[in-house]
This record gives sequence, C-alpha cells and structure tokens, in this order.
Amino acid sequence: MSSTLASATSKRRILVTSALPYANGSIHLGHLLEHIQTDIWTRFQRMRGHECYSVCADDAHGTPVMLKAQELGITPEQMVAQTRAEHHQDLLDFHVDYNNYYVTHSEENKELCELVYNRLNDAGYISKKTISQLYDPEKEMFLPDRFVKGDCPSCGAENQNGDNCDVCSATYSPTEVKNPRSVVSGATPILKDSEHFFFDLPKFEGMLKEWIRSGAIKNEMANKLEEWFEQGLQQWDISRDAPYFGFEIPGAPNKFFYVWVDAPVGYMASFKNFCNANDIDDTPFWAQDTDTELYHFIGKDITYFHCLFWPAMLEGAGFRKPTGVNIHGFVTVNGAKMSKSTGTFIKARTYLEHLNPEYLRYYFASKLNDSVTDIDLNFEDFVQKVNSDLVGKVVNIASRCAGFITKRFDGKLSDSIENPELLKEFQDASEGIAQDIEARHYHKAIRDIMALADKANQYIDTQAPWVTVKDEDKQALTHDVCSLGIHMFRVLVIYLTPVMPKLSAQAQAFLNDEFTWESAQEVLTGKPINKFKALLQRVEMDKVNAIIADSKESLAPKADVSNTKKASKANNEQGGEDSNVSPLERDPIGETISFDDFAKVDLRVARIAKAEHVEKADKLLRLELDLGGETKQVFAGIKSAYQPQDLEGKLTVMVANLAPRKMRFGMSEGMVLAAGPGGSDLFILEPHEGAQPGMKVK
Ligand code: MSP
Ligand code: ZN
Repeated sequence: MSSTLASATSKRRILVTSALPYANGSIHLGHLLEHIQTDIWTRFQRMRGHECYSVCADDAHGTPVMLKAQELGITPEQMVAQTRAEHHQDLLDFHVDYNNYYVTHSEENKELCELVYNRLNDAGYISKKTISQLYDPEKEMFLPDRFVKGDCPSCGAENQNGDNCDVCSATYSPTEVKNPRSVVSGATPILKDSEHFFFDLPKFEGMLKEWIRSGAIKNEMANKLEEWFEQGLQQWDISRDAPYFGFEIPGAPNKFFYVWVDAPVGYMASFKNFCNANDIDDTPFWAQDTDTELYHFIGKDITYFHCLFWPAMLEGAGFRKPTGVNIHGFVTVNGAKMSKSTGTFIKARTYLEHLNPEYLRYYFASKLNDSVTDIDLNFEDFVQKVNSDLVGKVVNIASRCAGFITKRFDGKLSDSIENPELLKEFQDASEGIAQDIEARHYHKAIRDIMALADKANQYIDTQAPWVTVKDEDKQALTHDVCSLGIHMFRVLVIYLTPVMPKLSAQAQAFLNDEFTWESAQEVLTGKPINKFKALLQRVEMDKVNAIIADSKESLAPKADVSNTKKASKANNEQGGEDSNVSPLERDPIGETISFDDFAKVDLRVARIAKAEHVEKADKLLRLELDLGGETKQVFAGIKSAYQPQDLEGKLTVMVANLAPRKMRFGMSEGMVLAAGPGGSDLFILEPHEGAQPGMKVK
C-alpha cells in the first residue's frame, strides 16, 4: 500500500468502496466480512481526522436479475428497489455506515458509463465482431453459460453446467456441451450469430504489469495475475443482446453494456450522487494527476475484474487508477464452505434476529488480515472469544470500577493518576495499533488491545478496590485505583471504536466524552462520569444454534420474535462473568413448555430475612429466605445490583421446589426471580404489599 503513516498528521483525502452486492439475493455472512472490513477501515480513517468517504450500491443489472424479476412477476426496477432497501437496512443494522448506498440502475451511472465508453471508443479501444452463441428459441434470448446445461463433452456425465463438469472437472465452451438445453425454458438451444463489442484489453498489458507491482495489490496476488498475463490477455466482450436488464450502448440499439462494465462505474456513480447532494467536487477523486486515494475492498473471486478490466477501463478513459485493491478470502463456517443444507449459509437478517452485530464485527476483526486466506467462523471459538474478550475483559474493567465511583465518590474521577507509567503504556500503544489497522492487520490490533485489557484487569485484581473501600484510610487510594481503571477502559474502547462503534457510543455517553484517535492521549481527571450501564451480554451457544436452525429452514415461516424480556436466572453462579445485556437488546421468548411443566414450578412469596456478601464471590449474595415458617438459603447473583442491607426485609418471589444445588460456597436451596439486562440493572421481583411469606404465587 502506498499510503504512509508519516502522513498521519497531514489530512488525506480517501475514497473507499466495497464490491456491489448483486440485487438478486440477500446479504449473507460472506458479504458481511467485506462490509465490516471496509467499515472498520473507513471509521478508523475518519477517527484519525482524514477526509474519508465510503460508497457502495446494489449491482442491479444482468440476466439473473432480469429472470428473477420475471419469476416474481414484477419489473426488474421494482425488484431492485426492494432489494436495495433490504440490503441497505441489513448493513445499517450491522453498523456499516456508507456515505452512500446507491444502485447501479441510476441516471448518474448511465451517464458515466456512456462517458467512459465514448472515451474508450474515441481512443480506438473498442472493436466489433460477429460471434456465434447459444440462443433459446422459445425464450428468444441468448444464454449466458450458467443458463445452459447438458452432457459433459469430456466424460459424458449428464446434467452438467454449461462451462464446467462437476464429475471430471473439465472446462469447456457451452457450444461444446452435448444434448444442451436451456435452463430458462428447457428448449434445445440453437447457435445464432450476433455482433458484439470488444474492449482491447491486450493494449493495456504494459500498464497493468507495472500497476500490479506498484504496491496497489499484495505481491501474492500480483504473482497470481502474472499467470494470467502468461496465458495472454484477450479482447473482452462488453456487450449483450436484448432482452437484457442494463444500459443500452450509445449508438447501438438493442445492444447493452455487460453488467461488469457498468458495475465498477457504479462506484463512481454512487460517489457522484453523494457529492452532488453534499456540494463536494468529486473531480479530484478521479483525475489522473491526483493526491487523493482510492481503495476497493473485494473478495478474491472478483480479482480479475478489479485488477485487469477496471484499471484498464479507467486508464483508457483518462481517469486515475486505484491506489489499492484490498482483496480478502472467503468466509467458511466451522471449517467448511457455507451451505444451505447444514444451516451455515447464514443471512445477515437471520443473525440479527438472535445476536448483537458487534460480536460478529469483533470476531471478524480478530481474524482479519491483509491476505487472501479464507476466514473461518468457528462458532465455539466465536462464543468463547466474545465472552472472554469483550464481556470478561474489556467491559469487566468498567463494571468493576464504575459502581464505586458513582456510589462512593460522587460520580467523579479522581484528580490524579494512580500509576502514570501504566496508563502511558496504554496510550503509547496508539501508533502500533493504528499502523496495524491501516495495514489491515486487524487481528494484530485486537491481540494488542486484549493484552492491554489483561493488564488492566491484573491491576484491578492486585489493588482490590472492593477490599480497600472498606478501609476508612484508603478512600483516596480506592478512588484513584477505580479512576485509573476507568481511564484504561476508556483508552481501550477508543482503540476499539472502529470495530465496535455502538459499544463506543455507549462508553462515550457514560464518560461524557467524544472519542477521536488522538483523545487516547488525554485524561479525564476530576471529570464527572455517569452511572454505568451494563454494555454487553454474554453469548450463549443456544443463540448460535437458533441461527443455524433458522438458516436451515429459511424457506419456512419465521418464528415471531417478541420484545418481552424474560426474568433472568440471577442465581446459581457458576463462576462465569456478568450476564450483561444492552438495554436495547431483548431476549426473544424461548421454547414453549406444557402447562403441566409449568404447574410443577412452586413459586412462593419469600421475605429476605438476611442478606450478606459471600467471601471470594464476585457476583453472589447469600440470602436467607423466610417462607413463613421454613427458611431456605439461596445464593443469588445479584451483587452487582444490590447492597445486602438494602435487601433485608424485602419481599420477593422464589422457586421453592428447585432441587438443592451444592455450590462452591454452600447449598443453594432455590432461586429468586429477577429481571433486567444485568450488571447494576437487575431487579428482583417484589410482590405487592399484602402478600405474606409462604404464599403460593399463581
Ligand atoms: N456484483 C459483483 C461485484 C461488482 S463490484 C463492481 C459481485 N457481487 S456478489 O454479491 O457476488 O459479491 C459481492 C462481494 O461479496 C464480492 O467481493 C465477493 O467476493 C464477496 N463475497 C461473496 N461471498 C463471499 C464469501 N462467502 N466470503 C467472503 N466474501 C464473499 O461479485
Ligand atoms: Zn465430465
């Protein structure tokens, strides 16, 4: 990559794109990897103070879109409008924030395609030639390769694709297929002549060879491209015959631009549409002599288009070439290609129905690098990483310190930094982490951030503010320690902002702060902070299993997702971390149970006769519950929300017939019911006055 960090102080002007998703399918995990990778990079550049724009769009044109719309009985325009809106919402819900999410079927794109084409034509890069292709006589259309099926010309296997055989792996031209038939109508295709337009790619060989070694793409990819040069570049067929959903070629009625011509021009069009609406001059972003930067994020499957055709088109039309094409590998799930039958072909929406999008952003970030190796989403690893890194390490720092600041120290951070060297270590990590994000080594940035989170937790463990707070002489120390904890948390969340913008926004609200990359170097000594709200909820494997189950039956009607929170099982600590849940997230109603199952649960009103801390337990309080004669001991995970003395005398509801469980601290003989997202926002259920201990709850 030619950009350097030396220029971090001078303002860069950058345009970033992600590949345009086709308008005939849903956004899935594979797309998300790319959009998340792009979004992290863009947010990072903006945080660094650069002028960085990002655009994307739906790729509207081509035969598959046209045929799918026919199948649905709507116009392609209607279908594309619907899909675009759906795609855009999916991306927004993953906090992927483009300056513009447009569509290639637009006025701007039509004009720009004509401009590019006319320039290429005027410069002599376009020629015409009549070719013979398979044609569906019933449907009266030429057939793209994938719309022809038949017997393999090599091994004779039946029902093979128009261009390759699954059985013997042979590749061939659709005209060679034996017993060919049209996938669209079933008719036997005939050969038909038609005049096509060709772009003179071979003329650009010298320029391309130089460009791929300019730092625009990684060497591993440049080596791969060399192989294509060795095979010899070919004239590129850029026209398609009617009927075709696309733009007509100027001066050539019934001839349309092949979708791969207008799709990359769609990057320019989306940006133009944004610039026009915002009074920005887009010329410098496309001028050959420019100091603006242009980056395309793409998957490895479309390298050919972005590293050969597109730079050649740009050059031929007098525009600049990309500064970089950032190529990523494919998403696999649990080690295998995403598949509908195993439920691993997961749509963005299906994921969103069950889990927080920032978990996926974090997980992908923790694995992303600048290479084209595939990225595996392993669900066990995912659950483990989210719970241990985000909930157990990062958020835990704040949950351990914030309560004391609010309750004991007037909600203000202390005036001094207890351990300046320690904080400096956090601040000094800034440039290293920045360089890693710049170079798309996100996994390294995450690794370094988590190593710091470990340090912060070790510091808090050693200082044990929950012990010193009880000592009158150590109030100032406790205040300082908790304040430093908050400062370390703050720096880590600043670094995580491009990856987890929502968590960051919540942290900024909590700290009355606005994060920039530079602000990691500042401190908030003496400043007021707000009451800490639990930021994240642990992921449970059952959520993941639900996603997989829903993906398997994505054709069946979706289960309704309710907004009601269920009472959380606040008891029975097993030594795990906080069950933090963001206030915006609600648990869907779980599996239904029979009335008989329900009737077995003996719910009773209980009076909390005694409540006390349990030594060495982070989450638990020991409760003695009076059931009107009988007393039961329960260990409840509500320490983050209640002081024991505030509980004594209160009435609550307990499950009285739960089999006793031996816990580390003693027997737990039931459960109390509580509701809420967790952390300090957890509320035990309190029956109305008049209820008596021992009464059955019906
Ligand atoms: N419409 C073209 C792109 C035109 S860009 C001028 C296209 N669309 S796509 O919907 O098939 O893919 C969009 C992007 O998603 C591509 O970069 C592609 O590589 C990426 N991915 C699609 N499936 C993927 C995975 N399973 N894993 C990772 N990325 C993948 O190609
Ligand atoms: Zn074969």
